[in-house]
Amino acid sequence: MLSEPAEGEAGASGALAGTPLVVIPTYNESLNVESIVARVRTAVPDAHVLVVDDGSPDGTGDLADALAAADPQVHVLHRTSKAGLGAAYLAGFAWAFDRGYGVVVEMDADGSHLPEQLPSLLAAVDERPADLVIGSRWVRGGSVVNWPLHRKLLSRGGSIYARVMCGIPVRDATAGYRAYRADALRRIVADGIESQGYCFQIDLVRRAHHAGMRVVEVPVTFVERERGESKMSRDIVVEAMGRVTRWGFERVTRRAPARPTVAAGVPR
Ligand code: GDD
Ligand code: MN
Repeated sequence: MLSEPAEGEAGASGALAGTPLVVIPTYNESLNVESIVARVRTAVPDAHVLVVDDGSPDGTGDLADALAAADPQVHVLHRTSKAGLGAAYLAGFAWAFDRGYGVVVEMDADGSHLPEQLPSLLAAVDERPADLVIGSRWVRGGSVVNWPLHRKLLSRGGSIYARVMCGIPVRDATAGYRAYRADALRRIVADGIESQGYCFQIDLVRRAHHAGMRVVEVPVTFVERERGESKMSRDIVVEAMGRVTRWGFERVTRRAPARPTVAAGVPR
């Protein structure tokens, strides 16, 4: 449907090559969507925002439309039904590639990812430089606000398990606050991504690392949502455990092809 511009061209030279697009997936976030978009626009005035709404029954999509009508830097992608966080992001990424944005950001709508910390992620893309910058809770200076101990343990434990099984040298493998160089992201998702939820995030960092891309973490403060309900479920945790375990065994049993391109990049 979206035919312009040709593959690979837009990122390098288009009008939006220097502009970050903040992709915000929403499902029933009517209590949060207006505030998060306003905060992004204030924190990084150059950024564009794409809300990817899966037909939220609570009217989130209509609120987002009103924001877009009032602000040319705010856009909305409406999808017909709830198809999961990963699918929403993939649709948002494709939208970004078609328009030639230089950097693509993942951010939750519920306020857990502070827009005020976005400049630090974007600076790391340019200055480190990096293909993928992860806003990390589990590096020095990072933190989580309002999580019970069992959530912290699950998140840290999950990250350690993913780190060991997949051989990815990051502290916060499931983090959902990220900035990607668009041309790198295009390559990361080129083969298609099936996983959802926490696992979607692990899958993308795993592919980036194994392709020899530069992955760095910057500390962020993750604030548990105050309004609305989480959409993450036990199924999503189970999916992540299962896939990470399988990827780990695949890596060990097919030793040679597991790390084929590390030498092409800058391992850290
Ligand atoms: N469009 C769409 N479709 N959006 C969705 C869907 C969906 O099916 N499921 C969730 N979302 C949106 C929510 O509306 C919210 O903006 C964001 O995705 C995150 O959903 P939450 O329900 O708040 O997830 P969480 O807080 O448990 O998970 C976050 O932290 C995890 C690590 O702790 C996310 O950032 C995850 O990606 C991350 O792995
Ligand atoms: Mn959340």
